[in-house]
Amino acid sequence: MRVAIIGCGNMAEAVVSGMNRFGKYEFFFYTPSGKRAQEFAKKFSGKAVSFDEMPEVDRVIFACKPQQFNEMSQLWAGKFNSKTLGISLLAGVSVSDLQKKMKLPKIIRLMPNTPTLVGQGIGIWIKSSEVLEAHEFVSSFGPFMELIEASSEDELDFLSAFSASGPAFIFEWARILSSLLMSEGISSKQSQILIQKLFLGSATLMDQSVDSFETLRNKVTSPKGMTFEGLEVFRKSHLENLFKDVIHQTYRRSRTLGDQPVLPKFESFLQKQQQSPEQ
Ligand SMILES: NC(=O)c1ccc[n+]([C@@H]2O[C@H](COP(=O)([O-])OP(=O)(O)OC[C@H]3O[C@@H](n4cnc5c(N)ncnc54)[C@H](OP(=O)(O)O)[C@@H]3O)[C@@H](O)[C@H]2O)c1
Repeated sequence: MRVAIIGCGNMAEAVVSGMNRFGKYEFFFYTPSGKRAQEFAKKFSGKAVSFDEMPEVDRVIFACKPQQFNEMSQLWAGKFNSKTLGISLLAGVSVSDLQKKMKLPKIIRLMPNTPTLVGQGIGIWIKSSEVLEAHEFVSSFGPFMELIEASSEDELDFLSAFSASGPAFIFEWARILSSLLMSEGISSKQSQILIQKLFLGSATLMDQSVDSFETLRNKVTSPKGMTFEGLEVFRKSHLENLFKDVIHQTYRRSRTLGDQPVLPKFESFLQKQQQSPEQ
């Protein structure tokens, strides 16, 4: 199967390396400067091509930044035949915009995340009604990412605020904890190992345990014990509301990136909980 990759950045790398591990593809890479396309061609045994050299392909993956979409579509609109399946990784750019601007009826929007690089990714996706071969997409991407089909594009944008941006929130949390350790004189190596194992161990426990997240938390927390005191700080600082703000802003930005309205459905979901007087 021939696959064109338009834009060769971090996310394209995660997806192409997964595809490469689990399938047989002939890749054709394009970037405006050609530099990253050359690097990809070397790494994934494909070809770096110019616009004119791009052959007919079965699939094309759009992987530039949303802000580069207009420039990309001006060049590539109408280049691929109507049977080609277009897979867009662009945040916020809707299926109908992609169909219109790329002149391609068959579109899948896929929002992966960077853990795809290590085979632990999540991909939220949705397709245009013209895509009849979604099972082929699922069987080729499913082996290297957990695929979740969204029921609407609004839901895709909302879920992506958790899954696609989520790794950055987790890494920021890890960075803060690790720099706290280092500020108290713990070596950078020890701090890094401690935090990596903390996240890896906790994630593995969540993955392998039948307990809910709440039960897992309670198993670490004795009444009035040390962990309880730490969690009390979360509660008194309204950590839950802070998370809601983070998700809200992320979701809003994905909607504004694609000039879409922010929907009341998720606006109400994200309403802050009323704080009880004692909190
Ligand atoms: N990063 C994430 O975690 C994540 C998660 C989900 C979805 N996404 C989506 O994935 C997409 C790519 O993100 P990224 O972080 O991989 O970006 P990136 O690393 O900045 O890569 C962007 C690539 O697009 C190329 N490009 C720039 N202008 C172009 C144009 N006019 N036509 C074709 N290609 C062009 C760049 O070429 P040069 O190499 O020549 O500069 C570069 O190779 C974004 O749309 C983003 O919304 C990202």
